[in-house]
Amino acid sequence: MKAGFYQFGPEFGEKKKNINKVVSAIKDADVQLLVLPEFFATGYQFVSKDEVAELSEPVPKGDTTQALLQVSREKNMYIVGGLPERAGDTFYNSAVFAGPEGFIGLYRKTHLFFEETLYFSPGDTGFRVWDTKIGRIGIKICFDWFFPESMRSLALLGAEIVAHPANLVLPFCPDSMPVRCLENRVFAVTANRIGTEHRKKDHSLTFIGKSEVVSPRGEILVRAPDDEEALMVVDIDPETARDKALNPYNDLLKARRPDQYGPIY
Ligand code: ACM
Repeated sequence: MKAGFYQFGPEFGEKKKNINKVVSAIKDADVQLLVLPEFFATGYQFVSKDEVAELSEPVPKGDTTQALLQVSREKNMYIVGGLPERAGDTFYNSAVFAGPEGFIGLYRKTHLFFEETLYFSPGDTGFRVWDTKIGRIGIKICFDWFFPESMRSLALLGAEIVAHPANLVLPFCPDSMPVRCLENRVFAVTANRIGTEHRKKDHSLTFIGKSEVVSPRGEILVRAPDDEEALMVVDIDPETARDKALNPYNDLLKARRPDQYGPIY
């Protein structure tokens, strides 16, 4: 199974342009699961609630989800990408999952980062995993990675591959994801963006690139540069993520001791 990401620098507010850029970049890609960055069509640094309201879309009716559905159908591929979602009067930092068979699902970011907390509501979907023809796919979004409970929840739900749309600005994720994957024995596809947004006088945000695909053994199978566009795809076997045995005595999920984890459970 071929899984990968498209890392690029979206232009803030230029939805059509960003969507067209993605469509043309993946035109000839041989990939079955493609992950796009968080807020890939809108850009990241919102500065007002009005702006959020203007650029957010209902799911799955909005233009961005519809564009992904069309590409999925035409190219016979599965796509996960992030977008600001409007649900009535509430706004979420969400990711949609599109497949050749149509709309598969929605995840709303659980752990909001920094000024996202000013403009978006914390996600209420919980972590989700979908059984598809290409494997069991779960989703988390960017800063969710910092909470080990996110990947653990997805692993316990049976995820084989975790799609991870991101707009990373802190340097820690790319080197941490191998541990998350190793301790849960899952694949992860982190799709980050590049570039800098200068939308606020006092602080610009620079995104760190380094999108990657990591194996259940904690190996970085491919990693993109920190400042260049990159479409990278790697052959993986999702079934290898079903084997949680470290040795004949330790199965990483079954050997857990929730009764001893007082403050957590
Ligand atoms: C992030 O969650 N966008 C860092």
